Amino acid sequence: MLNDKDFSLTRMALKRIFVTYKLPEDILRPLSSICDLEVWTGSKPMTPSELCSAVCDRDGIICFLTDQITRSVLEDQENLNFISSMSVGVDHIDVAAATDKNIPVGNTPGVLAETTADLAFGLLLAVARRIPEADNFIREGLWTSDMPWSPDFFLGKDVHGATLGVVGLGETGRAVARRGKAFGMRVLGWNRTHRDVENVELVALEELLAQSDYVSIHIALTSETLLFFDHERIMSMKKGGILINTARGGVVDETALADALKIGHLAAAGMDVFETEPLQPESTLLRLQNIVFTPHIGSATASTRKRMAELAVENTIAAIDESPMPFCVNPEVYLSR
Ligand code: DGY
Repeated sequence: MLNDKDFSLTRMALKRIFVTYKLPEDILRPLSSICDLEVWTGSKPMTPSELCSAVCDRDGIICFLTDQITRSVLEDQENLNFISSMSVGVDHIDVAAATDKNIPVGNTPGVLAETTADLAFGLLLAVARRIPEADNFIREGLWTSDMPWSPDFFLGKDVHGATLGVVGLGETGRAVARRGKAFGMRVLGWNRTHRDVENVELVALEELLAQSDYVSIHIALTSETLLFFDHERIMSMKKGGILINTARGGVVDETALADALKIGHLAAAGMDVFETEPLQPESTLLRLQNIVFTPHIGSATASTRKRMAELAVENTIAAIDESPMPFCVNPEVYLSR
């Protein structure tokens, strides 16, 4: 039995954790008894200054890709000991700044590749066969005897027999390649470092861009890949090609993409991610008909989001225990601990 003094010591020793989004109770339950948990209940993501003041007296934070954890946010933190992000991508966190402060950054790899690949392939099919456009046509009451079925009605592009180029052969890229193969496509692949993948022909990036009818992007956003798909790379894609991006918006120059779509160099695009999210109303992309949009929902299935949340909690429990997080993007910080 704890007496009052022991109890207050235990309370004092509890780590203070801040969660920037209201995750379901059953997900947070394993944490509520081992730490002092505070959860953001605002209806919008936190602003950088709200984030800064909310975490200033916290030992750890569970965050999401809408939280911009910049160097200046981190510089103000005296107590922050770990960051656990419920995402595989960590480009919303200045990992170098966290490493400089010896703060481990956890992420959620290995659980969302198949789900994201499903969406990438869904966008590819939707764009190729003009599914949203056809859906709209019926909803708007346009399918009438004045505009009946005809042999050139909603002509799209074949997927089977076409060439798919996968840029980035990590888990999601490989999952997209498998889908391409199963649909009877020829699959080309390019990765920054050499990576053999079954049923994928490894080629130089220039060759992949020049030969592929569909290019699907699966590279992380880093300082090296910012605007990786610039004017030159986009224009070196095959004429009439289709670009699918479910990785990160920042790897595509949206102005160059819009230009290529406007002049018909690219036939169409499927976009789940954008340079600025939410996509701004003034974006030129919104004025183009040959894009199918989704709002960053690559990993958005109930079971995958549950697995991601569980991994974020698993990382947090390890960090509370002062053990290395099982999924950590800067494990070198543990060497100096
Ligand atoms: C991630 O985890 O990085 C994804 O973009 C979320 O869908």
